[in-house]
This record gives sequence, C-alpha cells and structure tokens, in this order.
Amino acid sequence: MLLDTYGRTATDLRVSLTDRCNLRCTYCMPEEGLSWLAKPELLTDDEIVRLVDIAVTRLGVTEVRFTGGEPLLRPGLVSIVERCAGLRPRPRLSLTTNGIGLERTAVALRAAGLDRVNVSLDTTDPEVFARITRRRRHGDVLRGLAAAKAAGLDPVKVNSVLMPGLNETEAPDLLAWAVEHGYELRFIEQMPLDAQHGWRRSDMVTAGDILESLRTRFTLTPEEERGSAPAERWLVDGGPHRVGVIASVTRPFCRTCDRTRLTADGQVRTCLFAREESDLRGALRSGADDAELAERWRTAMWGKKAGSGLDDPSFVQPQRPMSAIGG
Ligand code: GTP
Ligand code: 5AD
Ligand code: SF4
Repeated sequence: MLLDTYGRTATDLRVSLTDRCNLRCTYCMPEEGLSWLAKPELLTDDEIVRLVDIAVTRLGVTEVRFTGGEPLLRPGLVSIVERCAGLRPRPRLSLTTNGIGLERTAVALRAAGLDRVNVSLDTTDPEVFARITRRRRHGDVLRGLAAAKAAGLDPVKVNSVLMPGLNETEAPDLLAWAVEHGYELRFIEQMPLDAQHGWRRSDMVTAGDILESLRTRFTLTPEEERGSAPAERWLVDGGPHRVGVIASVTRPFCRTCDRTRLTADGQVRTCLFAREESDLRGALRSGADDAELAERWRTAMWGKKAGSGLDDPSFVQPQRPMSAIGG
C-alpha cells in the first residue's frame, strides 16, 4: 500500500510519458516551448511498464492514467497501454490528451486496452482556440473526440480552463455542445503551474463564477457522492448528462487525495504542488530490485504533505511546470 501519515492511500497513479507538447496553451507554456528532457533522461517503455507493474502488484494501485506533456507524442504509447493492460490485477487505464492525433490512434488504443480518455478543449470557437493554444488545430481536436467516442472509449471527458478576456463567457456554450455530443464536461480552475509563473489569483475564473454562468441556461442539481475524484458534479437539467467543476484553488480536495505521480524522467511526486521528488530512475538504473523500488515509493508517499499549500500566503510554485509534472 502507498499510505501517508494523514491516513490517505494512493491507488491512482498518473504517469507522464513525455514533457513535450504540440500546442502552446498560454496558461501552460511560452510560445517558444521549454527546454525539453533529453531522450536518455526519459524512462524507456520497459522501465515504465516495470514501474507500473510494481505499483499494481506490490503497492495497490488500481487506476493508471497516462499524461504528458502530450502523451500521444510518445511513439510507444499503444504498446505501453497494451503491456499495462496485461498486468494482473489489471489496472483501469486512462489517458489525458489534447486530442491531436487521437483520430488516428483511438481504435488502436481501445484495442490495446485503454478504458477511457480525457481531452482538453477550452472553446467551441476555432479562432479562440488559436488564441489560447497558439495553433490552428481546433478541427483536429473535434475529430479526435469523435473518434474516441466511436472507438468505444467510455466515458469521453472534456477538460476546459476558462480565462478572462479569452473564453470566460463560454461556459454555457461549451456545456450545450458537450451535452449534444455526449461528452462529460469538467471546468478546471486555473492553477499556478504555468512555466512562465504568470498566474494571478485575481485573474482566475472561479468555480463560483462558472456555476453562476451555467445557471443562466441550465438547472444544475448537485450529485451527493464525490469520493476521491477532484471533480464535483451536477446533473444538467435533471440528467442524465452531468457537468463537473475541479475547484483546486477555491475548494481544494487534498483531504481525499488518492494520487501518486511518476514524471517522464522517473521521479515520484506525491502531489502536483510538491517541492520534493524521489528518484526511482536512478535506483532502477543502478540495479535496484522490485522490492527496493517499491520500498522507495512507499517512503516517498509516507512523506506526502497535508495539502497543496495554495492557501498559504508563503506558497511557492513548484520548480517544474505542469507539462513536466504530468497534469
Ligand atoms: P478522472 O476524474 O479520473 O477522470 O481524472 P482527473 O480529472 O483526475 O484527470 P485529468 O488528467 O483529466 O485532470 C483534470 C484536472 O484535474 C487537471 O487540471 C489536473 O491537473 C487536475 N488534477 C488531477 N489530479 C489532481 C490533484 O491531485 N490535485 C489537483 N489540485 N489537481 C489535480
Ligand atoms: N491550471 C489548470 N489546468 C491546467 N491544465 C494545464 N495547465 C493547467 C493549469 N495551469 C489542464 C489542461 C488539461 C489538464 C491535464 O490540465 O488543460 O486538460
Ligand atoms: Fe500542451 Fe496540455 Fe500544456 Fe496545453 S496544457 S500546452 S495541451 S501540455
């Protein structure tokens, strides 16, 4: 088990497969990109599968999510998914992606054993998309989403970050669009995880703002059970469609957090906002056996802090940006 001193157990592993991305979302990274990890620094496909195996067989992980950067840029993705689906007990497998290239890979990913997918899309307007992501790829994302649904990935969720002056008035349009297409929409409060360190609390569109805007067009009824999921959910106009809000900043959910993270260069992180990392890659490459690696992972989790520290006026952003941590 991956237990911490606050009594939480991590059963949900998020694995970043690359820090690279083919978009340049303004809330994530600058136009010129970042200094990417060099190939030798990345875990190999074999190393990733071995660490997921340890997490599943020795540490009680039941859910594995592949993230990035953009995980579809990883050449070995389909094979990694397939090998992880072959582990026993079989973990549930999901992917968080910007959707570019999903049109071509959705069927292969489903066949390899991927269960579900979360796709980032912040707007229904191609022009606004180009302003947010600095790329003209809105159509690719829409086709990727349709392909994911057609391939039987279920549910298909859409993540949207709203920003003042860009797309803050779009919440009702995004929800109408998601309901029409059968995607589960979740709005995410913008978090201080951008590479440029430009986040300002005063610029953030809050969960409260989003709900107020949605209620101008929809009736929202809260769902009782949240469990450990970051999203609070509401039934839309009595159901069956739902909408979620991930209010990491104004309503943090750290008390029920069940996550552990592995970066693309093989560091265990206990939290998105942690300042500490534990080096599994070094241990693995110097010959540690599975039992030793599992013990290192347990020790790292035992040191997990109570929360993100976002409420603390002395909060300091982690050194790594979101794209290098793995959302
Ligand atoms: P499911 O609910 O299992 O579908 O996944 P998810 O919502 O956790 O995953 P996804 O990758 O789609 O992430 C959605 C948003 O939640 C992203 O902005 C993540 O950064 C954020 N998120 C995920 N895990 C955590 C966490 O432990 N803490 C915080 N504060 N945010 C998180
Ligand atoms: N704050 C909130 N969400 C973010 N994402 C990326 N950067 C941030 C940020 N600073 C979102 C992406 C994706 C998910 C993994 O996290 O849009 O949907
Ligand atoms: Fe890429 Fe995701 Fe960052 Fe956008 S938020 S630049 S899609 S890693």
